[in-house]
Amino acid sequence: MLAFLFQVLGALLAGAVAYHTWTEQKFSRMPPGPPGLPLLGNLLDIPLSQLMFKKLTTWSKTHGPIYSFRLTTRRVVVLSSAKVAGDILDRMSSQSGGRPEHIKAGEYMTRGRLLAFMQRTPLWRILRKAAHDTLNTRAVLRFAPIQTSEARLLTLGLLTHPSLPVSAHAHRFSTSAAMRMLYGLDPISLDGPDPSRPLVEVSDDLFASVKPGKSVVDLMPVLKHVVKRSAFLRRKSDAWYEQVSQLYSKFYWSEPTSSDRTCISLQLREGKYKNIEDVDAVWLVGVLLLASQDMTRVSIQYFFLAMVLHPEVAQQAQKQLNTVVGSRPPSFDDQPRLPWIEAILKETLRWRSPTPGGLAHAASQDIHYGDWVIPKGTMIVANIWAMNHDSELYPDPDKFEPSRSPSS
Ligand code: HEM
Repeated sequence: MLAFLFQVLGALLAGAVAYHTWTEQKFSRMPPGPPGLPLLGNLLDIPLSQLMFKKLTTWSKTHGPIYSFRLTTRRVVVLSSAKVAGDILDRMSSQSGGRPEHIKAGEYMTRGRLLAFMQRTPLWRILRKAAHDTLNTRAVLRFAPIQTSEARLLTLGLLTHPSLPVSAHAHRFSTSAAMRMLYGLDPISLDGPDPSRPLVEVSDDLFASVKPGKSVVDLMPVLKHVVKRSAFLRRKSDAWYEQVSQLYSKFYWSEPTSSDRTCISLQLREGKYKNIEDVDAVWLVGVLLLASQDMTRVSIQYFFLAMVLHPEVAQQAQKQLNTVVGSRPPSFDDQPRLPWIEAILKETLRWRSPTPGGLAHAASQDIHYGDWVIPKGTMIVANIWAMNHDSELYPDPDKFEPSRSPSS
């Protein structure tokens, strides 16, 4: 009996040594980073708040523009300079364009249908093409009348409802503009019903589940097959999927109330993209709603914050508007003659990006970069905050200074 136990222990020890040697070899040429704990890696170092990118930026000051860390078994490479990010994510995009596996959010909650979490499959290519066709810089010009109308409604709302928080105005604007462009629906009023409200309420669950340490199955992917087979363990994700699917479907199939027939859902419904199934089209427009609503709302809120903190910048903008536009409302045609306004917008996105940590990529094969190797499957994070606050490119980077933009 004792001999048998020794044999088992010996086999386990040999297995552990072999695994350790294999991982040491596989990961030995990864860019180094902060030391972590056995098993957990750097899991406990990562703040669970929104400010994770600040920790990643602090590490970049010690470990440089490319370093790695570990969350249990998952390796993460962080790119913190525009040069390194451009080299790896842009010039080597065929190797770095994958997405990391988000088991809970990507497989269970959204069942592989959320474009932003999809691997580079043929379906992703088709959906991506449809999104690009309908939203490229030339195609979106057709939405200028909606954007102009929404900007005027936003101004009116601010004047008539000054007691409402800026976040309420920014939410109304971003949701209303998105619902009009995506589904051809009527503008949303500040005090009227907001059809997207139930969606907003559940969206946080999705964002929360991709945060490090928030999903057990993502920390221990070996559990994936157990969860997949258990309706009980998956019940919350299943309920989330059903609820969100129903909402997206309702919007997608509603008859546009606007006479403008250029909305994206109609283009998909009218069969321009025959190889996209209805359920995938419903989710494609859904993810556009999710992404645009959030990004636009946050950017507008930061714009207002910058203007409140820097009234002298706002005054200069007002002066330019008075000179160029006069007493009528501005339009897109005025844009080339409003360089200071353009500079303010660019500086707002630099100063407080709505996506400071980007959207994680994954290496679809081993990536050789200088002396380093990023092994296949490694998560790659573009630390946009660090790039936008690089003091070599932007002296005194925390300062909101539109004159640093070439547009100014
Ligand atoms: C201030 C505005 C915005 C910013 C700063 C922003 C930023 C980003 C970033 C950094 C990514 C990740 C790119 C990557 O893979 O490395 C992304 C992806 C994405 N964005 Fe935006 N975005 C904005 C507005 C929008 C809007 C208005 C829409 C929809 C109409 C949208 C839809 C998407 C989608 C669908 C993806 C995922 C694409 C894919 O995985 O193929 N974004 N965005």
